[in-house]
Amino acid sequence: MLVGLISPVGGKAADIEAGRRKSEVCVPCHGLDGNSIAPEVPSLASQPQLYLYNQLIQFREGRRKNPLMSPFAANLSDKDIQDIATYFAAQKPVSTHGGEPDPEKMAAGKRASEKHRCAFCHGPGLTGRDHIPRLTGQPYAYLLKQLRGFKDQTSADIDGSMTEVAQSLSDEEIEALAYYMAHLPPVP
Ligand code: HEC
Ligand code: HEC
Repeated sequence: MLVGLISPVGGKAADIEAGRRKSEVCVPCHGLDGNSIAPEVPSLASQPQLYLYNQLIQFREGRRKNPLMSPFAANLSDKDIQDIATYFAAQKPVSTHGGEPDPEKMAAGKRASEKHRCAFCHGPGLTGRDHIPRLTGQPYAYLLKQLRGFKDQTSADIDGSMTEVAQSLSDEEIEALAYYMAHLPPVP
């Protein structure tokens, strides 16, 4: 049902332009073109359109909650959400976090990612697809918070799959995974 509302990747130029205007209020937190520089705020640039669409619906309907974010989704129409999702999905991601990664920590994160088959759902390169988000280049603190939340069952989860996956992650693996993903280039 949701899928029917979503236009193909890229979207129409008019929708992108409308989305750009409607997302001006998002810039102070999510950064220019959706490239966040705040540790607790995720980047939106080049996330799959369907992922952005679904998450905004979740915030608007109160199924996902955050005191900073929720007010900004509360009054969006379905068309607003579609335009905004189309706009951010079409933006170029830039690496705004990280610096020079520690090779040992990167290797530990890669091992954990392979062991738990994160790429099976998040796609080769962990860049996301359909309703599943890009993880690469996201802020370390945000990834850590989300993974700990899935494990504690306090992060909202659209279909339960992330909560299930997180149950088998140790605290050390969660830190290694967050470090690894934060330091990977947003897109290969
Ligand atoms: C006052 C700061 C703030 C503003 C302004 C803001 N957001 Fe957010 N947004 C957040 C925070 C913080 C989160 C992370 C919430 C969490 O930890 O669950 C978030 C999360 C999101 C997510 C989920 C991303 C993901 O990777 O799961 C989307 C989508 C989003 N915001 C879209 C928007 C849009 C669109 C706007 C403008 C209409 C907006 N936000 C305005 C702070 C903000
Ligand atoms: C069975 C499929 C599946 C597997 C395997 C999986 N994920 Fe996910 N993941 C999802 C889905 C679906 C979501 C979106 C959850 C939602 O919409 O609430 C998600 C969301 C996330 C998020 C939240 C990102 C954001 O922007 O808020 C993180 C972090 C994450 N996954 C990390 C991982 C890691 C690390 C692994 C491997 C240990 C992994 N995932 C394995 C399906 C999966």
